[in-house]
Amino acid sequence: MKYLALFSLTSALLLASPMSDDQIVAKGDQVSSMLVQRLSGELKAQMQNNGAVGALHFCSQNALSLTEQVAKETHTSLKRLSTNERNPVNKATADEAALLKKWSDLLKNNQPLPPSAIVNLSPSTAVYYKPIVINNEACLKCHGNVEGELAKAIKAAYPEDKATGYKMGDLRGMIAIEMAR
Ligand code: HEC
Repeated sequence: MKYLALFSLTSALLLASPMSDDQIVAKGDQVSSMLVQRLSGELKAQMQNNGAVGALHFCSQNALSLTEQVAKETHTSLKRLSTNERNPVNKATADEAALLKKWSDLLKNNQPLPPSAIVNLSPSTAVYYKPIVINNEACLKCHGNVEGELAKAIKAAYPEDKATGYKMGDLRGMIAIEMAR
């Protein structure tokens, strides 16, 4: 009985023991690179096989469900956010917009960005944010100065699109990963 009590006390403490900031960052890094790999792998294949317009349609139909799949596999809640969003569901909240503004100001002043940031929503929930910087010319195909057929297809799918006019090195948005502490 004594042992049982001791055992349940220990396991309760283990279950309740919060994740350290380092552990949150490690998990965030792992989940975000999984997401980037999943999305960019699909994007690359679609661009090669079906061209930019085909890839655009693929993204608009599948980007969210691919993101949802990675969230399920990693027991997190996962989003990509922007203040210049293409898909209205990816719009940053006021607090998230403030963080993005801080990061884009750093870039404007030629300062390095932090690799990630943590915000505690409650003692039991943390959100890990990772900046998404345009570091690949391929991104500009759909987020740079888009013209012609592709511009029309974007306008048709996203009448309120704000996600064009980007250059290499610009802050496109961020990945947000909510997880239990
Ligand atoms: C073939 C066109 C295409 C290419 C190439 C492309 N995107 Fe997108 N992007 C989209 C579409 C369509 C959406 C909206 C659908 C979604 O992802 O929710 C989007 C959404 C996003 C979002 C979510 C915020 C928002 O605006 O809705 C981010 C962040 C993003 N793209 C970053 C990138 C980066 C970084 C690259 C280069 C690695 C890239 N994209 C390449 C079409 C593209």
